[in-house]
Amino acid sequence: MAKVLVATEKPFAKAAVDGIRKIVEGAGFELALLEKYTDKADLLKAVADVDALIVRSDKVTAEVVEAAKNLKIVVRAGAGYDNLDLAACSAKGIVAMNTPGQNSNAVAELALGMMIFMARNQYTAGTGAEIKGKKLGIHAYGNVGKLVASHARGFGMEIYAFDPFVKKEDMEKEGVKVVDSVEALYSTCDYVSLHIPANDKTKKSINFDLISKMPKGATLVNTARKEVIDEEGLIKAFEARTDLKYATDIMADAHATMVEKFGTRVFGTPKKMGAETAEANINAGLASANQIVNFIKNGDRTFQVNK
Ligand code: 3PG
Repeated sequence: MAKVLVATEKPFAKAAVDGIRKIVEGAGFELALLEKYTDKADLLKAVADVDALIVRSDKVTAEVVEAAKNLKIVVRAGAGYDNLDLAACSAKGIVAMNTPGQNSNAVAELALGMMIFMARNQYTAGTGAEIKGKKLGIHAYGNVGKLVASHARGFGMEIYAFDPFVKKEDMEKEGVKVVDSVEALYSTCDYVSLHIPANDKTKKSINFDLISKMPKGATLVNTARKEVIDEEGLIKAFEARTDLKYATDIMADAHATMVEKFGTRVFGTPKKMGAETAEANINAGLASANQIVNFIKNGDRTFQVNK
């Protein structure tokens, strides 16, 4: 009987776990749970005899892959798979997948919430601003970026986007003004919402030069990955410009320094909140379980990311 492990430092909502159990056990497989673990040793022990693994942002390193002697498939219940060591998976013939789109709406709603939160000075005293009529730049028009654009349109924002991987016509069809460089996006928009993945090309790519191009009073909202920001560059830009603001879903490594220097111009969540809704947990959790069942039973490799 195939054994499926759900290993989540940040657990799914109960309804999601119940749904995963129904799918896994309904397929005749066994379900094991490792939730809220704090010691890597617990993960290494738990993966020892499993055939399939479901994780969130949990790090599936070469060491984990090595310890998981029977592992055939790992599914990252979510979009970004920078937490999976794909080379280590491929070397062992393990299929790695994500569940694109399943938690996008939760992240998109948080991005909009953060824009308003920052426009109202983090709900502290003093006159804030409205987001209506402001220019919003979507940096990467994937599943989340597309939804942010659609929700922001309802708030009366003017939407711009930069994404070299999406056809210009497809974005224009949705009422988006397409710019042809990342520099143009940052120099045009009052708000920039980041939706790029974290990889070797993008890490620290949002740097002093780019941030300094933003118009007066602009806000950068990061619900992507903190690693894409060059934090030293951001601090330098914020020291030179007292009008800029930054909100990030998971606080920056330099969070304490930033708050000390810039006060309510910066905000960071203590835990990654983007996908923390029951709906997103259910969507991504159930998709993961279904993908595992379809892979083990039918060899279905849709959503494989280590081809
Ligand atoms: C994702 O990449 O899907 C999001 O960042 C959600 O991450 P989480 O499952 O760790 O909350």
